[in-house]
Amino acid sequence: MRAPVIFIGAAAVVVAAAGCSTATPAPKASSPVARGRAYYTTCQGCHGNAGEGFAGMKAPRLAGLPPSYVAEQLLLYRKDLRGGPADFQGVQMNGRAKALPDEQAVQDVAAYIATLPPPPAPVAAAKGGAGTALYESCAACHGARGEGNAELGAPPLAGTDADYLARQLRNFRKGIRGREGDERGQQMAAAAAVLPDEAAIDAVAAHASTLR
Ligand code: HEC
Ligand code: HEC
Repeated sequence: MRAPVIFIGAAAVVVAAAGCSTATPAPKASSPVARGRAYYTTCQGCHGNAGEGFAGMKAPRLAGLPPSYVAEQLLLYRKDLRGGPADFQGVQMNGRAKALPDEQAVQDVAAYIATLPPPPAPVAAAKGGAGTALYESCAACHGARGEGNAELGAPPLAGTDADYLARQLRNFRKGIRGREGDERGQQMAAAAAVLPDEAAIDAVAAHASTLR
C-alpha cells in the first residue's frame, strides 16, 4: 500500500507547484453546475460549505431547496422585492445576489446548490403539540412532511432552522416579504396572516423544522 501513497503525494506536490505559478482564475467551466460551484464560493462563508446553513450568521440551509425556488429568491433580492433596509437579515442578501454577474449565473448557482446533500434526519421526531395542529393549514402547499410543492412554488420547510422559519413568517405578516410584484410571496403572506398569535408562529415553525 505504500508505493501508491508516495506516488499520490508526489503528484499532489506537482499539482501544487503548478498552481503556484498561475493565478487561479474564476473557472470558465462549461457545465452550469461547475460554474455554479465557482459562484458558490462567495456564499459558503455564510451558508456553509455544503449549504447546511449557519445559525450564527442567521443564514438558512440552502441544501434541499429546489433550484427554481433558489433562483426565484435570488431574483427577488436582485430586484429589491425581498430584503432591503426594513429586513435586518435579508438586506445582506441584496448585495450578494446583485454581485452575481447575470441571470445565467443565478441559474447556475441554483443548479449547484441542488447537488448539495439534503437535511439529515431530525434528532427528535415532531409529534403532538400546538404546532402539529397549526401545520395542517400549511400541508396543502408545503406537503404533509414539509417536502414542498414545486408546482405551487412552495419550498420545503423540513429541516430548516426554526428561528429562520419563524422570522420569515413574521416578515410575511409585516409585509417585509410578499410585496407588490411578488405573487407567490403574497400567497404566503395570506397564509401567514391566518396564524392567531406570536406563540402560534413559533410553534408551527418549530414543528415544520423537525419534519422530514
Ligand atoms: C453575509 C452572509 C451571506 C452571504 C455571503 C450570502 N448569504 Fe444568502 N442569506 C443570508 C441570510 C442572513 C439569509 C436570510 C435572510 C432572511 O432572514 O430573510 C440569506 C438567505 C438566502 C436565500 C433565501 C433562502 C430561502 O429559504 O428563502 C437564498 C436563496 C440565499 N441566501 C442564497 C445565497 C447565495 C446563492 C449566495 C451567494 C451568491 C448567498 N446567499 C450569500 C446571508 C448570506
Ligand atoms: C397557498 C399555499 C401556501 C400555504 C397554505 C402556506 N404556504 Fe408557505 N409558502 C408558499 C409559497 C408559494 C412560498 C414561497 C414564497 C416566495 O416565493 O417568496 C411559501 C414560503 C414559506 C416560507 C418561507 C420559506 C423560506 O425558505 O424562506 C415559510 C417559512 C412558510 N412558507 C411557512 C408556511 C407555514 C408555516 C404555513 C402554514 C401556517 C404556510 N407556509 C402555508 C405557499 C403556501
